[in-house]
Amino acid sequence: MTTRRIVLTRGAALVGAASTSLLLPTIARSQSDRIRVGLMLPYTGTFAQLGVAIENGVRMAIDERGGKLGGRTIEWFKVDDESEPSKGVENAQRLVQRDKVDVLIGTVHSGVQMGIHRVARDTGVLNIIPNAGVHAATRSLCAPNVFRTSFTNSQPTLALGKPMMDKGLKRTVWITWKYAAGEEAFEGFKESYTKAGGTIVRELGLPFPNVEFQALLTEIASLRPDAVACFFAGGGAAKFIRDYAAAGLKDRIPLWGSGFLTEGVLDAAGPAAEGIMTTMHYADSLDTPRNKQFRLAYAKAFRLQPDVYAVQGYDSGLLLSQGMEAVKGDFGNKKALYAAMEKQTIDSPRGKWTMSPSHNPIQDMYLRRVENKDNKVVGIAAKALADSGAGCRMAG
Ligand code: PHB
Repeated sequence: MTTRRIVLTRGAALVGAASTSLLLPTIARSQSDRIRVGLMLPYTGTFAQLGVAIENGVRMAIDERGGKLGGRTIEWFKVDDESEPSKGVENAQRLVQRDKVDVLIGTVHSGVQMGIHRVARDTGVLNIIPNAGVHAATRSLCAPNVFRTSFTNSQPTLALGKPMMDKGLKRTVWITWKYAAGEEAFEGFKESYTKAGGTIVRELGLPFPNVEFQALLTEIASLRPDAVACFFAGGGAAKFIRDYAAAGLKDRIPLWGSGFLTEGVLDAAGPAAEGIMTTMHYADSLDTPRNKQFRLAYAKAFRLQPDVYAVQGYDSGLLLSQGMEAVKGDFGNKKALYAAMEKQTIDSPRGKWTMSPSHNPIQDMYLRRVENKDNKVVGIAAKALADSGAGCRMAG
């Protein structure tokens, strides 16, 4: 288990330096003026890059707003969750019980999220979800202290079916990792594609994070569908794209997907990714001053190109920071803080978005095409798309 715990604030150095009794009252006050922020993200495994992008985004948003939260100095804590669901509860408890974080930002993997969710509901700690799309978190198990800045797993694929049918792709094979994210992405795809008149000829799957795609690609070749649609992400997505091309399918059967397929992987996937069509709540090439300014600042700060995960991290930082500013740092007043967070409009690089009653973004979905290692916007696939929030009863 790799647990990294860091405490790094300008304030930490101050506390260490202050050794005279004369300074003690000031120290006591400055400590209570602090806020403890825990990051529970994958830093190893197939989603490692996603975790890094999210952390970069969170820090960048907070730094841009002065590096504090409602005037409070931040102490940071980190845990590598390895995208390992069996350790989800234990890792969340480390942050909440041992490190006593006030806010837990995490995570990427839907299975791990359910562990965080249990701890968040049991302890009441504020949880901001910067990626994992598991439906229950903002549907049947929604909670006043849980906010998502990303998407539900079926949101991107609810926008996928119609553009495929518009292109005359009437028979599709679906393929994914068999766990909550893939299965719920399929729900969105099935609903939108069958409603538009399409036929799903086969559902294929393999366990997460397996990348032995060969037998399934052979099956696709023999089924000869009009198109393939999928959910994959991170390192596994890059491998799927390369294997799809290597199997000779790229020029015969168009590849479509939930946009994660082509996020943060375009360098690793190379020419095999050109032409892939996806739907997603962000696109690199969004032609707005806000997105351009964000991309320049991110590239300058981290020497990396941002992707949807960086944007979701950035928006998590914005949501927390704007909420804390609205209550002037009065973190103890949870009712006021959560009411303020519910009301925020987030001026995101993806476009402005607001929070649904079940605490999930209401947002546009873009249709994108990979061109010259870029996710180019082709159009808007769905405007102001909200998740159903089915079964959500917000207590308290
Ligand atoms: C998830 O497990 O919810 C998940 C992981 C990676 C993504 C999207 C969703 O890119």
